[in-house]
Amino acid sequence: MKSRKPLIEIVSTGRFLPERVLTNAELERMVDTTDEWILERTGIRERRIAPCDLGCAEMGARASRIAMERAGVQAGEVDIIVVSTATPDRLLPATACDLQAKLGATHAAAFDVSAACSGFIYALTVAEGYLAAGHGEIALVVATEKMSGIVDWEDRSTCVLFGDGAGAAVVRRGTNGRGMLSSYIRSDGTLAELLWRPAGGVLEPLDEARLAAKDHMVKMAGREVFKAAVRSMAEAADQALARAGLTGEDIDLLIPHQANMRIIEATARYAGVPMEKVFVNVDRYGNMSSATLPVAMDEAIDEGRLKPGGHALLVAFGAGFTWASSVVRW
Ligand code: ACO
Repeated sequence: MKSRKPLIEIVSTGRFLPERVLTNAELERMVDTTDEWILERTGIRERRIAPCDLGCAEMGARASRIAMERAGVQAGEVDIIVVSTATPDRLLPATACDLQAKLGATHAAAFDVSAACSGFIYALTVAEGYLAAGHGEIALVVATEKMSGIVDWEDRSTCVLFGDGAGAAVVRRGTNGRGMLSSYIRSDGTLAELLWRPAGGVLEPLDEARLAAKDHMVKMAGREVFKAAVRSMAEAADQALARAGLTGEDIDLLIPHQANMRIIEATARYAGVPMEKVFVNVDRYGNMSSATLPVAMDEAIDEGRLKPGGHALLVAFGAGFTWASSVVRW
């Protein structure tokens, strides 16, 4: 397949991470777990936790201001704000609208996408379509997650895995050969119950029994999710490479969703990308759901690992199930 001309360019990125670090040693005092178990099974050493009064709109706004300043873009120039979050500040209105108000981006359309850990690539793909159709020039694509607010801190099988943070990207229509060469988004709703929050929506409103059962918190069949993640991320990597007309050998940096070191290693092996070309920060932040990708991209740029002309392969998997991938020329 011949490589297609990119339609949009990622002009700049920014990230926000809460200051509070929660280590595995602290978790040992909270639930029946050990640093050794967490490290061996997941590769996570510590994660960031946002304070009670810090929500996703504010974390996303802080990441956005950095990205906008780097791009030299004023709030009034943004045409569309797409926010990915699995942990909205409230159910109505969208977190994107609160973020828009904080930025003063009054000219923009603002809405959320809900695709769990794959949400950043979903949001980028939506922005790509909007801009490519000629509806605007500049998009702000944000992923912001406060996973600490939806995990059961007494459930050792989930609470050790997640962390909080936000990342943002300023995206512009038209490119000089840089930008998204491909994107691939997929989902399978028949497997929703393997990773979900069963109650708290209109179908299963919260009552005393639901609260007592903690049905408003994350429930996960870890082993099944693990297998699906490995399988789906391999397929997603294949698809993004094929659609960009590239192979693993052409990739300068693989940026996989940061959920678990073993999933990351399996994805790299499958995509034919050696580990020295794989970006890893799961040890420092855990799984920040959709925020993992823009935070990793931003760190990779700061570390000089994404250079002009280089090819990055983004791959993600999450609840839904959803999975997604993209090849970006930097
Ligand atoms: N500390 C100590 N023991 C634990 C802990 C813990 N924190 N959590 C579970 N265990 C125990 C289990 O109770 C079980 O004990 P048993 O054998 O006596 O029943 C044992 O460890 C093994 O449990 P498994 O679930 O089989 O362990 P596994 O090797 O699969 O690792 C893990 C669990 C890390 C959750 C893994 O399945 C995983 O990473 N799955 C993917 C989940 C994920 O990342 N989800 C996030 C969203 S999707 C995504 O982002 C990809």
